[in-house]
Amino acid sequence: MVRKYRIGEPIPTDSVVAEIEITSGEIPFFTRDDEKKSLSLELGDSDRIWGLGETTRGMNKRGWIYISNNTDDPVHTEDKKSLYASQNFLIVDGNDRKFGIYVDTPERVTFDIGYTKASQLVISFDDFDFDIYVVQGENLKDIVHQFRKIIGKSYVPPKWAFGYGQCRWSYMNADEVREVADKYDKAGIPLDMIYLDIDYMERYKDFTVDDKAFPDFPAFVKEMKDRGIHLVPIIDAGVKIEEGYNVYEEGVANDYFCKKENGENLVAAVWPGKVHFPDFLDDKVRKWFGNKYKVLLDMGIEGFWNDMNEPAIFYTEDHLKEVFEKIEDYKGRNLDINSFFEFKDLVGTISNNPEDYKRFYHNYKGRKIRHDKVHNLYGYNMTRAAGEAFERLSPDKPILMFSRSSFVGMHRYGGVWCGDNMSWWSHLLLNIQQMPALNMCGFLYSGADIGGFGADTTEDLLLRWTAFGIFTPLFRNHSAMGTRRQEIYRFEKIETFKKLIELRYSLLPFLYCEFMKAVEQDEMLFKPLRFEYEDERSAEVEDQLLFGEHLMLAPVYKQNATGRYVYLPEDMKMFRFRAYNDYDEQELTKGDHYVKADLGEVLVFVRNGFELPLVKPALRVE
Ligand code: NOJ
Repeated sequence: MVRKYRIGEPIPTDSVVAEIEITSGEIPFFTRDDEKKSLSLELGDSDRIWGLGETTRGMNKRGWIYISNNTDDPVHTEDKKSLYASQNFLIVDGNDRKFGIYVDTPERVTFDIGYTKASQLVISFDDFDFDIYVVQGENLKDIVHQFRKIIGKSYVPPKWAFGYGQCRWSYMNADEVREVADKYDKAGIPLDMIYLDIDYMERYKDFTVDDKAFPDFPAFVKEMKDRGIHLVPIIDAGVKIEEGYNVYEEGVANDYFCKKENGENLVAAVWPGKVHFPDFLDDKVRKWFGNKYKVLLDMGIEGFWNDMNEPAIFYTEDHLKEVFEKIEDYKGRNLDINSFFEFKDLVGTISNNPEDYKRFYHNYKGRKIRHDKVHNLYGYNMTRAAGEAFERLSPDKPILMFSRSSFVGMHRYGGVWCGDNMSWWSHLLLNIQQMPALNMCGFLYSGADIGGFGADTTEDLLLRWTAFGIFTPLFRNHSAMGTRRQEIYRFEKIETFKKLIELRYSLLPFLYCEFMKAVEQDEMLFKPLRFEYEDERSAEVEDQLLFGEHLMLAPVYKQNATGRYVYLPEDMKMFRFRAYNDYDEQELTKGDHYVKADLGEVLVFVRNGFELPLVKPALRVE
C-alpha cells in the first residue's frame, strides 16, 4: 500500500505515474519541524536503511549523510555526499517496522542517516515543499515492488546491449575503432559494442561527425554492423555556440536554451568551449532535441549514451569574468595564509559552482523556475527527450540509451552507468554495493565502468571486475584519457579474459530472462541478502548479492586474494567457473565457508531446487 502526503506546494517531477490521492493528516512515523524544514525519525539500534540509489558507501546507508544534488564529481570517495543522481527512495528496516519512503521533489534534500545523531534519521529541505510517499508491504521485496509499481516500468534496451562493450575516451578515428574490432575478433573474444566518446564529433558539437576522422560515417556504421558490432556514440548536454551550426542556430532562433534573469541565453563552457544548455524541462525543447538524434539514427546508429547532464559546467562566462576581475586584486600582493587560500579557491571552485546553478532559468510546466530549484531533473529530462523521441522515431526497434545523471522517473527512458569511477579495488566493491540500490529505484539496465575509468588499472583488477560484470546488464569496459589502456587484448591473460566474457554470453539467455522478469514484475535483479533472508547475519553481508530469483554472487574484490569468505544463508550448490564448460560443483551447507577463487574463477551459488542454464557462447549476442 502506498500513501501520499503533501507538504507545501511541490514542483512536480513526473517521477510517479500512478494517480494517488493525497492523504490528509500527519505523515506517519516522522516528526515534522516546519521551522527547521525537516522530518525526523527515531531509529532503533538494529534499524537498517536501504536505498538512495547511486550513492557512496555501503548497502546499509546508516551512519552517513547523503545529499540529493546531482554532481559531476569524478572522485567517489567515502567522504562524498552527492554523486550524479538523486534517487530519494529508502527503506527503514527495523525489527518491528518496515516501510519505504519516496521523497518526491526536485530540490536539494539532505538525508542525515544517523550521522549527526546515531539514533535519528533526519530529512531536511531547502524549501519545505514536497510530496512524500509512504510505502508499506509484506516484506522488503514487496515494499520495493509497491514502489516500483507507482513509478512505471523500467526501460528495456535492445538485446545486443547485453553483450560486451569496449569504450575509451576516445577512439580518435575509424581506424582505431577497426583495430579494436579486429583485435577482439582475432582473439575470438565476444564483443557487441564499441563506444564513441567525444572525439568522434566535429569540435564536440552534438549530432555532428568529424568527417576527417570518420569519412563516410554511415558506410562505417554499416561496415561495423555487418560485422555484428554496434557503434554507440556519446551525446553531451551543452550545445556549442558556433555560427552556422544548425543545432545552435535553431536553439537561439526558437528560444530553446536556458536563459539568465535578464533574458539572455546563459553562456557556460564544457568540452567545446562556450555552450548553451537546452531547456530540457520544456516539452517543446525536449521534442526538438529528441528529434536531433534522428541525424545519427539515419546513419545507422542504434544506441547512445548521454553525458555531462547534471549539467557539468566548467565555468560560466559571467563567473569567469568575476574571477578575472578579482584576480587583479591579488596582483603584486604578499599572499598570506588567508589571501593565498582565497586566491586558490577562486580558481579551484570555478567548475560546477553552486552559484552558477542560480544564474539561469527553465520554462517548466508554464512557470519560470530558477535552475537550482529543479537542478536534479536536468539529466533526467535530457534522457527523457531521447526516450520520447525514440518512441516516435523508432517505434518497432528499441534504441540503447543510458545516462550519467538521473532521477527517479528516468528509469522509464534509459539506464545509467555509474560515472567516473576509478581503477580502485574499493570501487569494484562500490559497484557491487550500488547495484541493488539502483534496482530499487527502477534502474535495471545499469553498470559501472569495468576496470575503472580514472587512474591506471591492473590486470588482476580488470579480471576481477570483468568476473563481476558478467552479471551487470550494462557490461562495458571504459577508461579515461591519459590512463593505462585497458582493452583486454593488451593483457597477458587474454585467454582468461576470453573465458570470462564467453561465460557472460553462455549465461545470456538466462540473464536476459531474469532481467525481463525483473522489469515485468517490478522486481530487483540484484538484492542484498537481507531481502530474502531474515537472519541477522544476512543483514550484515555487504559484499555478496542475490541475483534474480535463485543465484547468489560472491565476487572477489581484494588484490592478491585467491579466495574469500562467503556466508551462506541456506544450503546451496556452489559452481566455480573457469569457463562456461569448465567448472567444479560443490554442495555447501548453511554458514560460513572459505572458498578458493583464483584469478579468472567466478563463484556462483545456486539455491536449492534451481538449475543454471548455460548455452554455447557466440561472438555476438545475435
Ligand atoms: C565524462 C564521462 O563520465 C566519461 O565517461 C567520458 O569519457 C568523458 N566525460 C568524456 O566524454
